[in-house]
Amino acid sequence: EMDPQERAFQERIDAGIKIEPKDWMPEGYRKTLIRQISQHAHSEIVGQLPEGNWITRAPTLERKAILLAKVQDEAGHGLYLYCAAETLGVSRDQLTEQLLSGKAKYSSIFNYPTLTWADIGAIGWLVDGAAIMNQVPLQRCSFGPYSRAMIRVCKEESFHQRQGYDIMMKLCQGTPEQKAMAQDALNRWWWPSLMMFGPSDAESVHSAQSMAWKIKLNSNDELRQKFVDQTVPQAEYLGLTVPDPDLKWNEDKGGYDYGEIDWAEFFEVIKGNGPCNRERMAARVKAHEDGAWFREGLMAHAEKQAERRRN
Ligand code: ACO
Repeated sequence: EMDPQERAFQERIDAGIKIEPKDWMPEGYRKTLIRQISQHAHSEIVGQLPEGNWITRAPTLERKAILLAKVQDEAGHGLYLYCAAETLGVSRDQLTEQLLSGKAKYSSIFNYPTLTWADIGAIGWLVDGAAIMNQVPLQRCSFGPYSRAMIRVCKEESFHQRQGYDIMMKLCQGTPEQKAMAQDALNRWWWPSLMMFGPSDAESVHSAQSMAWKIKLNSNDELRQKFVDQTVPQAEYLGLTVPDPDLKWNEDKGGYDYGEIDWAEFFEVIKGNGPCNRERMAARVKAHEDGAWFREGLMAHAEKQAERRRN
């Protein structure tokens, strides 16, 4: 039995009315949003690391400038999303602490290494492609600040996706070695990209409630299917082979059937045992510690200013 306040809240959601920070909301709604938005923010922040790894080694000055801008965009998305989470009554410091202590999750995808330049192409094409597939519907989610943040984020993600595909195009039109490098990157990033959408609908603990609250607009499997259907023709256009022997067009459903995802790998990665989890966390912790003098300096300055105003 739903209490009247909760029923009124659900009716607003069903009517497509946005919920704003000062509106009444069930504690579960608030908690779910803080969890999802902060995990999303952490993903953007940690997501800078695999690509940052290639900034000094980009093959041309132009590629370097583009990659630098893209990685800066990811930092911006992270800060933007932390602000959206803060409207729900949690502080940036608390969220940072949850990330650095290993309590909060961030996307599984950022625990894989970037071994060659082609990985930067594959990340833009596949990882940002998957991110857009998931985030475009979130522009219509029920929480105002999150939905509005997604508008700008999606515009920038589209640029990221195109720059990644452009790298793949160049490599695929290049020497046989370059094309092989592109194929190798697709081989390694394909399955982890499918895992970004989360566990299967049967295993997804939060989906039903989050969809009722319009914190999620589509299920994990729905978005994963849309991603496969969109991406396979793009791989064909590049002349690359998707590393899935079971991939097959299914006329009846008007989409591709694809092979079984290695869920054991997925759950290992989100438990902290992926190829780069420890390295990623160590890099974030070090960055935070290295920044301590700066935070202290800011505080000292703010105190001095306040002191001056008092006198
Ligand atoms: N990586 C890490 N953790 C994941 C992933 C993943 N790919 N997919 C699911 N999980 C976690 C969930 O966070 C949840 O953990 P928790 O209960 O400890 O918080 C658990 O696995 C169960 O999964 P679901 O019940 O399906 O969780 P949820 O309903 O939150 O769906 C999803 C997961 C689809 C990622 C959702 O949170 C979402 O849409 N988030 C916003 C988008 C986002 O975060 N994108 C980040 C990558 S894109 C980028 O940064 C470029």
